[in-house]
Amino acid sequence: MPVSDTTAAPLIALDAIADAGFAEVEVTLDGDSESLVMYRDGDDVRGWLNICPHAGRRLDWAPGQFLKSRDGHLVCAAHGASFSLDDGSCVAGPCKGDRLRAVPLQVRDGQVWLG
Ligand code: FES
Repeated sequence: MPVSDTTAAPLIALDAIADAGFAEVEVTLDGDSESLVMYRDGDDVRGWLNICPHAGRRLDWAPGQFLKSRDGHLVCAAHGASFSLDDGSCVAGPCKGDRLRAVPLQVRDGQVWLG
């Protein structure tokens, strides 16, 4: 199967993600299967690799289940690093100053696409 197949189909419907909520999908990037965390902000969706820069663990505590702090940060379930949902930068915790790896996403026709 061509590696580019995942770019030919939407990742998820926008409505499948609660506003101000998260979703997780598996995608093929550069031939590797990767888990992606997506965050919906109204009509916009931002995405990052589901890999914490601290120790390389997944950010979710169960597949697709992500923690959000009261001040609106994504919190890594492993050791509690907090990430800005604007730009994926680590604002507190063991990898402060580092950042999640952004994956560009687009919303078109009510669907979320890579790119
Ligand atoms: S792996 Fe995320 S805080 Fe340690």
